[in-house]
Amino acid sequence: MCEQSLHLQESVNGEVSASVRLAQHGDIPILESLFLEFSGWPLQRSDSIQEAIKDPNGELLVAELEGQIVAFIHQIFFIDPLHGGLNSELTSLFVKKEHRRKGIASKLVQQSLKNAKRRNVVEVHVTTREDNIAAVRFYEANAFRREGLLFECNP
Ligand SMILES: CC(C)(COP(=O)(O)OP(=O)(O)OC[C@H]1O[C@@H](n2cnc3c(N)ncnc32)[C@H](O)[C@@H]1OP(=O)(O)O)[C@@H](O)C(=O)NCCC(=O)NCCS
Repeated sequence: MCEQSLHLQESVNGEVSASVRLAQHGDIPILESLFLEFSGWPLQRSDSIQEAIKDPNGELLVAELEGQIVAFIHQIFFIDPLHGGLNSELTSLFVKKEHRRKGIASKLVQQSLKNAKRRNVVEVHVTTREDNIAAVRFYEANAFRREGLLFECNP
């Protein structure tokens, strides 16, 4: 399990204080609204958010500022015989617009990387669109390397 509460103090002016913790059942309504803001697709997500919270092969973390959830990251872990061990993927990462560039996503990713290390994960993957400049710059700034292309289809 992830460290339950990691206190963060990161900002340009030093006034922002956020905490990171595992998502809980009571967070589902706010997480649904954040997933909607993130995706723009209106879907019923409460069941899958609940599953993600309970999933032993995943961690859904939230970041709070003054008691309000302002960001989340979802990470999954899976057996990868190719790499001879466990791999991990960061499937979603979102920070509310008004709280960006305060280091919140960096702290969430650093916590996810710690979780991966603790589980002896071989590699951590993340995908984003080429035109998502903020995300591309963000992952580059967080030591991710460009590898390969993403293909998608609907089974
Ligand atoms: C990408 C995203 C998660 C970054 O969150 P954030 O909390 O603002 O990121 P941080 O403050 O930790 O940024 C760390 C570094 O990443 C880079 N970065 C982040 N946003 C950037 C931007 N808009 N333009 C250029 N570089 C950026 C910078 O190097 C930044 O350091 P700096 O502020 O000292 O220059 C956020 O913009 C977001 O939620 N976007 C919408 C959802 C999304 O695209 N998610 C990722 C794809 S799955």
